[in-house]
Amino acid sequence: MTTEKGLALVDLDDDGVDRAFRSDVIDGLSQAQKAVPARWLYDDAGSQLFEDITRLEEYYPTRAETEILTRRGAEFAAAIGPGRAVVEFGSGSSVKTPLLLSQIDPAAYVPLDISGDFLRAAAADLSAKFPGLPVHPVEADFMRRVELPDDVAGMPKLGFFPGSTIGNMVPRTAVELLRTMRETLGADSCLLIGMDLIKNRQVLKAAYDDASGVTAEFNRNLARRINRELGGTIPVDSLAHEARWNDEFARIEMHLVAQRDMEFAVAGHEFALAKGESIHTENSHKFSRRSGNMLLLAGGWTPTHRWLDSEERFSLILAEATIPRSAP
Ligand code: AVJ
Repeated sequence: MTTEKGLALVDLDDDGVDRAFRSDVIDGLSQAQKAVPARWLYDDAGSQLFEDITRLEEYYPTRAETEILTRRGAEFAAAIGPGRAVVEFGSGSSVKTPLLLSQIDPAAYVPLDISGDFLRAAAADLSAKFPGLPVHPVEADFMRRVELPDDVAGMPKLGFFPGSTIGNMVPRTAVELLRTMRETLGADSCLLIGMDLIKNRQVLKAAYDDASGVTAEFNRNLARRINRELGGTIPVDSLAHEARWNDEFARIEMHLVAQRDMEFAVAGHEFALAKGESIHTENSHKFSRRSGNMLLLAGGWTPTHRWLDSEERFSLILAEATIPRSAP
């Protein structure tokens, strides 16, 4: 196992404050509809709460995607073929990876993650499970083009992006990421990507507003993190979790809704919310077959195979890097 030397990925000021976090929060809270980018939900407590979410009865995506990876292995092994370097975007503490690696006969595994600690733990775990498999972790922000290790330079790549994480991005950002992935992976690569499907809105809302309140805590944890890391005075207990279905854009939105008029400060800036106003904290886009295909095509990927779980809630799509051609 080799570790690529990364640059410093987190830029802290003299007080140890993450500059990107502070500017995202101050900018986001200064807008008419207050909003904080969803990536900031995942500090240690948030990552743990998300793990808890994946085990909830109401939260079907993890179980549905795992079912596809477990049951349809022979089919995607045939479609993908052996000998690829599997590049996982945001490896986190994924349990899905072994299901893929055990079925496709890969040549190497390259987990990419912005969190070095997560990354090294995941890489060590995979090395133990697959003793013969070269593992080359890379500490990187996968939203930017990544220089892959020389060891995998000659190998065809398979990008792996499970979990419907692509759905957290607005289409413009999702397309940018897909194009960046194509640059990272090269011309003869393919991509295996999870996309959650549009479905009954009660099922969707329950998945993002569970009865035991874990998702509510996950959402409120962002306000707690702002208070702790940015010297905020947000009255967290007066913010209610809400999961809204936005039908126009086919997405679940998480909001923190003010239960009373409130004023608070963050990093020396004053903000106010009137009762009923909200801070928008996450989008989770849901896809149809066609909207998923269109997004991939816009990002430079041609879908070739598509698998659903037995209840048709979630899709796993295999796409190949589109060869640029002149019209039509
Ligand atoms: C891990 C980002 C795909 O959008 O379903 C779960 C995050 N948010 N419950 C999702 C999440 C609220 C999850 N993703």
